[in-house]
Amino acid sequence: MKAKIKTWNDLPEFSTWPARFLSGEEVQRSKDRKQLEREYEKEKWGPLLDGLGKNGFQLRQADRCALAGCDPQPCWVNGELKVLPALKALLVYRQLVQQKLLPHLHNATALVELGAGYGAIILWLAKQPAFKNLPCFAGEFAKSGRELIQKISVSEKLSVTSGTCDFFDPNITDLKIPPGALIFTSMSCCCLPKLPSTLFRKLSGFKPSSVVHLEPIVEHFDPSSLMGLLQQQYIAENDYNRNFLALLRAGEKSGLLKVVKNSPMVFGMNPLLPCSLLAWKPLKKGSC
Ligand SMILES: C[S@@+](CC[C@H](N)C(=O)[O-])C[C@H]1O[C@@H](n2cnc3c(N)ncnc32)[C@H](O)[C@@H]1O
Repeated sequence: MKAKIKTWNDLPEFSTWPARFLSGEEVQRSKDRKQLEREYEKEKWGPLLDGLGKNGFQLRQADRCALAGCDPQPCWVNGELKVLPALKALLVYRQLVQQKLLPHLHNATALVELGAGYGAIILWLAKQPAFKNLPCFAGEFAKSGRELIQKISVSEKLSVTSGTCDFFDPNITDLKIPPGALIFTSMSCCCLPKLPSTLFRKLSGFKPSSVVHLEPIVEHFDPSSLMGLLQQQYIAENDYNRNFLALLRAGEKSGLLKVVKNSPMVFGMNPLLPCSLLAWKPLKKGSC
């Protein structure tokens, strides 16, 4: 296997997706609530919880187990394709999330992640000096993910509170999010093919200081390039989200919120699904 990836021409060495797209094979995976539960509860966080039970609940151990079999990882970094060891790719991503959150941290009352998985990002952030004295909350859809967050948090002597999170649910989460919190999402909104039209109104209802999203945005994939076409096809085949940006823009148009940052394709642990950075602030008088 090549140790380096120079162009999209090299991608089939690392990913079976281009060959699958070109073979005309029917891949289409639908992401309804039941499928999401199967994917995250049964296939991902449930087995991780069982596996870690035998080895202790350290974050590093969770990372190793979660990324087992993912080496090496072709990534999208600063507009280039790079092959990185999986743990290194995760570190690069964590550092990027931290860097993107820091400008929004001023006077924030808490840090909240919605759709936090096993806590790969929020638990790591909670260990960093910049976030150390901030109450941290992690909402997660899968019960096993919430359990993992709680157990790793205790084991690492952190105080990250976990609770439910479901973007389909009218209340989104059972967490008591304090007003003035910095809320973020990382690759979780993208799980829902069609987010509810009320999403941004509901998020505004938590009265956050800022909301930062690191999510793949289909409109940011350039259909005049082979790369963009592959990325769009990846979204379609795996039924990832396609209405995030339209909803955000509708929220802005109605005066509900103001988008303060829009940086396309900042990083991808998977180059076919790089995330963009979108940050917004609620406006007091808006309605959606
Ligand atoms: C790709 S993982 C990302 C986890 C974490 N944010 C990270 O970056 O490591 C997507 C997460 O979204 C969660 N999710 C799935 N369906 C959801 C829903 N309806 N509402 C909120 N989160 C959901 C999954 O359980 C999963 O933990």
